[in-house]
Amino acid sequence: MPIIAPSLLASDFLNLQSECNMLNKSNADWFHLDVMDGRFVPNISYGPMLVEVFRKATTKICDVHLMIEDPGKYAEAFKKAGADILSVHIEACPHLHRNIQQIKSLGMQAGVAVNPHTPVELLKDILADIDLVCLMSVNPGFGGQSFIPHTLHKIKLLREMIDEHSLHVKIEVDGGVTLENAKLIIDAGADVLVAGNTVFKAADPIAMIAALKKL
Ligand code: DX5
Ligand code: ZN
Repeated sequence: MPIIAPSLLASDFLNLQSECNMLNKSNADWFHLDVMDGRFVPNISYGPMLVEVFRKATTKICDVHLMIEDPGKYAEAFKKAGADILSVHIEACPHLHRNIQQIKSLGMQAGVAVNPHTPVELLKDILADIDLVCLMSVNPGFGGQSFIPHTLHKIKLLREMIDEHSLHVKIEVDGGVTLENAKLIIDAGADVLVAGNTVFKAADPIAMIAALKKL
């Protein structure tokens, strides 16, 4: 069964308490929390302060996706805020291995996120050191965009790379996931589905999460 990680970026920020209660009641597995700095991506979302709020509102895993430059500067703040998994973008990290070591030494699981144009082959020498790859299936910065079809091929390739070395790295697919394309994404080898608009804009979000989970 896939791990379902609703992205709170698409939630109703005026009613965060009830959005969190809804997710807590559902069979969503993780809270996916999107941090944007207006530099690495052309949008600004929120930082550690709000991650801490989500942390207090749930016992589910807080999966923090940093779309920021110089993530090493903030890793400790996100640990303090309560992140369980911290993902940094390969495109933002010239010293990626150091960033991963830092995240792990702080006691979090480490993820690497890759943009749609970045070849998964670049992960070859870091795969054994990480817990998660966040494969972007849209250009990061905004929710509600359409899935980029060629990223399906990247999921398959990455699955082969992971299985070839019997690693336990999870593949998370992030962006434009819908009930219609989710099966294809899982069949390509994904373990985790991030879903923002598909969950929060659904008439019945709990039923939508259950439907994604059953695929
Ligand atoms: C995009 C974010 C995604 C986004 C997903 O930059 O990383 O997590 O919130 O939203 P949907 O599912 O609406 O594409
Ligand atoms: Zn994300």
